[in-house]
Amino acid sequence: MAADVGAAEPRAETEAEREARRDAAGVAARGQPLIELRGVFKSYGQGTPVVTEVLHGIDLELRRGEFVALIGPSGSGKSTLLNIIGLLEPLTSGEYQLLGRPVARLDDAELTRLRGEALGFVFQFHHLLPAFTALENVLMPELIAAGRLDPPLRAHGLALLEAVGLAEAAHKRPPQLSGGMQQRVAIARALSRGSPLVLADEPTGNLDTHTADDVFALMRRFNAERGTAFLVVTHDPRLAARCDRVVELVDGAIAPPRRPVSADPAG
Ligand SMILES: Nc1ncnc2c1ncn2[C@@H]1O[C@H](COP(=O)(O)OP(=O)(O)OP(=O)(O)O)[C@@H](O)[C@H]1O
Ligand SMILES: [Mg+2]
Repeated sequence: MAADVGAAEPRAETEAEREARRDAAGVAARGQPLIELRGVFKSYGQGTPVVTEVLHGIDLELRRGEFVALIGPSGSGKSTLLNIIGLLEPLTSGEYQLLGRPVARLDDAELTRLRGEALGFVFQFHHLLPAFTALENVLMPELIAAGRLDPPLRAHGLALLEAVGLAEAAHKRPPQLSGGMQQRVAIARALSRGSPLVLADEPTGNLDTHTADDVFALMRRFNAERGTAFLVVTHDPRLAARCDRVVELVDGAIAPPRRPVSADPAG
């Protein structure tokens, strides 16, 4: 790559390179562990007089292609756990492997790279940038890397917006879109790098029931079609019931699996 030395223009990734990266990320290889947490503890306020332990020894595995709900009362530690899994927050003790890599051994630059490669995020409040169009918001990580919106990147973004039913809204800015539309843009953005796992913290918490159902169905569809795994925090038991698996946090620990409600009156 001697020719690149001193090249000032950053080059956008081609569609072929993007595909290769998706393959490397193993989208097709369902069933392998994506995340593995062993005995994870988290305390806030370390080094101060008031140390609060909020996660007390979490063991959790999530495999490629799974669609998992994370439920639990307010304050049980769901967002804390999601932030640890998302490499946004360090754990206090225990082990965490993401894509088979022990994260404790990674420096900040490696954590940032792994986060970009492995994870997409959707939050309750979409965190879209109001001054940019829907298309630019979807492609923001790539735009930052590439510096400009070249035709292949534009086509990639438009295809994603079409997939979330927003082809018409590509050039609108978030304030011109409804809450459900904004959340669809956020989902398209979370999927734009082809990450094998999307972490969603109450993605439908701010939406009416009908819109929440649509947004949830969209995530399920991407899971089925692309094999993207999802870990979705929700307070909505109807949505949790539509996930492959439900993980329940109670007071910072994972509760034993509940038995499904039996249709058999004797059971
Ligand atoms: N930065 C922080 N510093 C100190 N304590 C914190 C911090 N963040 C969270 N906590 C505490 O950790 C506990 C778990 O909080 P967390 O936000 O993870 O809960 P949650 O399950 O996501 O709740 P909710 O359903 O309300 O979003 C709470 O007692 C909270 O007050
Ligand atoms: Mg929370």
